[in-house]
This record gives sequence, structure tokens and C-alpha cells, in this order.
Amino acid sequence: MDSQVIVALDFDSHRAAGELVARLGDACGAYKVGLELLTAAGPGLVRELVARGHEVFLDLKLFEIPDSVAGAVRSAGALGASMVTVHAMGGTGIMAAAVEAAREFPRLKVLALTVVTSMTSGDLADVGIASSTDEQVLRLARLAARAGCDGVVAAPREAAALRTLLGPQPLIVTPGVTLPGETQRGPRGGEVRAGTPWAALADGASHVVVGRSVTRAPDPVAALRRIAAGGQPCG
Ligand code: C5P
Repeated sequence: MDSQVIVALDFDSHRAAGELVARLGDACGAYKVGLELLTAAGPGLVRELVARGHEVFLDLKLFEIPDSVAGAVRSAGALGASMVTVHAMGGTGIMAAAVEAAREFPRLKVLALTVVTSMTSGDLADVGIASSTDEQVLRLARLAARAGCDGVVAAPREAAALRTLLGPQPLIVTPGVTLPGETQRGPRGGEVRAGTPWAALADGASHVVVGRSVTRAPDPVAALRRIAAGGQPCG
């Protein structure tokens, strides 16, 4: 995926997403479409984005039996998606099935979601995992690399350790970023392991996913350009 900054289209309708896409125009090269928008708007929206020359990160967060994961990955590839996510916690079998299914689609990258950024070590303990989030992220990233995944999704503060562990090639995609001064996030909450997009990229992330900092900004184009320019206001 060429654009380092991926804008998350977290909207509940085709119309709302389409308005933002029209507003951003050429300023945005890549969008993330998640389960909310996919369920509300359907796959036609993904086809439309791809037809207009945008890259699409289809954030399906697959956690299923390997055959079903493979089928969903093929469907994502057929839509023209550039990235798709599978839960690393599902283990080697489903990651390998996703990688195998993606072979038909040379542009499609399989990303393993390590630990959802809103989870704490306490949340992991609740589901029977004694490791800290840091340990668990690294363990799952190692597993994902062995299964042949193209990269991982993790929190910004994990980017540096992941880059050291994985080496230069794999993709490291970090959502959960916030801009300076944006500490309150409203109903979605989370951000427990947040960081700025620039810190994440400097630490070795290949891509950052930015949602509300752009989509709810008074001037989304200016917000996106500021992020892409490394934090300097730009014209
Ligand atoms: O918070 P923001 O609006 O930038 O979220 C954009 C995307 O990043 C969301 O679609 C969500 O999947 C992801 N996210 C995350 N962890 C957070 C916040 C958001 O993974 N703490």
C-alpha cells in the first residue's frame, strides 16, 4: 500500500462515507473499511473505492475456522482490497489459511491483528492469558511471521519492539493514534495504548490508521495533510 496514512471510514452509511471520500478527494490514497461500514453499506462501496483508484484496507478481523477464513480472504481479494486482517489469536492454522487464500491476489496483503489496542494486561488475564500485552503482541507477531503473514496490526507504542523483532520487510500497521491535544475520545473509548502517528512511523510502523482525527476535523483535508506532512501545518 503506497499511502502511509490510511483513513478509517468508520461511518454507518454509504452516504456518510461517500461524503467524506468526496471531500478528501485526491488528498487520500487509502481507506480502511471496517465491519460497521461494510455491514451497513455492503461490498459495493469497496468496489467503488477501488474503481476510483483508492487502496482499501478491509478490516475484517477474521477469527473463524480455516476454510471460512480462506473464503473470506478470497472474497476480499475479489473486491480488490489491498489489506485484510485475521486475528493472530486464532493461531497458525487460520493465519496460514489466509495467506494461502491470498496467493491468488498478488496485491492483497494479509495482516495479523495481535492484541486489540483497547485491551490491557488485565483483560488478557481475564481470558486466561498470563502474559502482559507487550509479551503477547511479540509472541503473536512471531507466530504471524512464521505463518507467512505480510505484517501485523499493533498499537503505536509496540512499533519499535516489533520492528526490531520482525526486521525491515514486514508491514506494521498501527491504529489507535491520537494527535497532540486529543486525549478525550468520546464513546468509543479505548486509546489505552495510544500514541501519535508521527511517533509510530518514526518507531518503525509502515502505516498508520487515522479515523476521527481526520473524519471529524473541521477541515479533514488540512488534518490529513498535517499528519502526512509530519505534524507541520501545511497549506
Ligand atoms: O480512533 P480512531 O477514530 O482514529 O480509530 C480509527 C480505527 O482505529 C478504528 O476503526 C479502530 O479499528 C482502530 N482503533 C484501534 N484502537 C483504538 C482506537 C481505534 O484499533 N484504541
